[in-house]
Amino acid sequence: MGSQSKKCAVVTGANTGLGYETSLGLAREGCAVVLACRSQDRAEQAIGEIRARVPDAEATFLPLDLVDRESIRRFARELETKHDRLDVLVNNAGVMGPPRTITRNGLELQFDANHLGHFLLTQLLFERLDQPHETRIVNVSSLAGKWEEADIFFDNLSFEGNYDEGPDFMGLPGMLAYGQSKLANILFTMELRDRCAKAGKNVKAVVTHPGASNTDLSRNMSIWIRLLAPILVRFMDISTPAEGARSLLVAALGPDVNAGDFIGPTGKNERIGEPGLCALPPKAHDKALCERLWRLSEELLGIEFQI
Ligand SMILES: NC(=O)c1ccc[n+]([C@@H]2O[C@H](COP(=O)([O-])OP(=O)(O)OC[C@H]3O[C@@H](n4cnc5c(N)ncnc54)[C@H](OP(=O)(O)O)[C@@H]3O)[C@@H](O)[C@H]2O)c1
Repeated sequence: MGSQSKKCAVVTGANTGLGYETSLGLAREGCAVVLACRSQDRAEQAIGEIRARVPDAEATFLPLDLVDRESIRRFARELETKHDRLDVLVNNAGVMGPPRTITRNGLELQFDANHLGHFLLTQLLFERLDQPHETRIVNVSSLAGKWEEADIFFDNLSFEGNYDEGPDFMGLPGMLAYGQSKLANILFTMELRDRCAKAGKNVKAVVTHPGASNTDLSRNMSIWIRLLAPILVRFMDISTPAEGARSLLVAALGPDVNAGDFIGPTGKNERIGEPGLCALPPKAHDKALCERLWRLSEELLGIEFQI
């Protein structure tokens, strides 16, 4: 079966962790998968591993760096020339708890990569997703997006002077900034859902979280925690990446998923367990907040995202 007839899915950050497992799962389900990654070597290794498990997998690489706006635009153009259809966009790539970093766009790295890069990518691909048949946009958030302290800090978006304050999570800096970016994934989904509904679009916006999964997301943690990880995971309700990715796969392909659903593990504290419907944080229902984030994102990117 060629890509002309297969569903086509784009997964950002697909070379490792949840993105890799999601790509593998989508390939198993018969989708043609585009691995949108910043490293060709790492993506090609992942494609080799997918093909070893799913011999007839259609998996290809296209370069994407979410903090490089030109890279995002190039990705959208190349996708259009190389793939005649697009059915699922999984906005998965993410970074957690780096030392405070200001990107070339003058923004705090986690907000720029985790939210804004995906906002631009979604805007550029939206027309292709706008089809008579149902298509999906899946935004990958986190339990951090549900933290009570998580907010969009409009007056200090890049955490000038207070980056290291906020929730303590395994000694990582910038966790409130991470929470901000992951709340942004949720608010973006809510506003997408509303705008698609209002315009009568058949594009389903869904948000998901994997619970707690043992992936490279811990790369900014201390060497000691990373060395102890194989032992810690046994005692801390931490899933394997394949288990964590089940929520992303349900969000991407599940038959009983509605626009605006928050799909995550339904076991202990939503860290592990069967994928299912999870409660959204109260801020997700704050329409003014969702709209304000949308406008801010447009302003920061210098675009209009009209639906
Ligand atoms: N693991 C968990 O427990 C957990 C919990 C809640 C939410 N999440 C969310 O799940 C998503 C996937 O995380 P993961 O756990 O699978 O982490 P991971 O193993 O570290 O994978 C992150 C992926 O994002 C890519 N990435 C980072 N910055 C990028 C950029 N600027 N442009 C393009 N790609 C970029 C990485 O590429 P490189 O390999 O090139 O760095 C990698 O492929 C994230 O959005 C994360 O917030 C994870």
